[in-house]
Amino acid sequence: MEKGLFITLEGCEGSGKTTAAKTVSRKLTEDGFDVLYTREPGGIDIAEQIRRVILDINNTAMDERTEALLFAASRRQHLVEKVIPALEQGKIVICDRFIDSSLAYQGYARGIGMDNVMKINEFAIDKHMPDLTVYFAIDPEDGLKRLTGRDEINRLDVEKVNFHKKVQEGYEKLLEMFPERIRTIDASKDRQTVAEDCYRLIRNWLRERDV
Ligand code: TMP
Repeated sequence: MEKGLFITLEGCEGSGKTTAAKTVSRKLTEDGFDVLYTREPGGIDIAEQIRRVILDINNTAMDERTEALLFAASRRQHLVEKVIPALEQGKIVICDRFIDSSLAYQGYARGIGMDNVMKINEFAIDKHMPDLTVYFAIDPEDGLKRLTGRDEINRLDVEKVNFHKKVQEGYEKLLEMFPERIRTIDASKDRQTVAEDCYRLIRNWLRERDV
């Protein structure tokens, strides 16, 4: 039986969600909450191995359904080994990217169809949907500019701007589909302000639930 809360952060490249995830986790811990910060593949060996295949810049022949299935497989392993045990211990799990990334990137931007990607992900996550998702809204071109200087550039980062614009459109569709679960913050501000806004949003959401 799970007692914890599962919060995911989503957005286009360079939206500042990784910085925010770390800030939010630190501040919630200072507030006395038991927090696990993670991101897929989250240091889970099997999930790391799968992820390496997906993001390898040399894997230009990868079929888009293969890509979607591999993300779902990596997600499953990370969920089972790390997220579910933490939720069972009553932790607040803050996860940088989850199912909505697959729906926006593979389902919408790659054009496989959100319904199809939802189906394979429903199989992978087996009802473990996030309790809250924070969407970091930013113009994809501005986000991509912020990537300069980052260590790792992967197979999806090098997609053309049009692809990233489609990812944004995909996320906007998800906002309409899941208005209860997904809340938006303006990620065009500087990273530290975005992180503070994200913390405030999550803190208020916890208060609404009397946590
Ligand atoms: P990252 O930006 O969190 O490191 O994610 C790596 C890349 O993988 C990023 O371009 C987003 C992409 N991605 C998907 O396309 N589908 C997914 O399900 C996930 C989790 C990430």
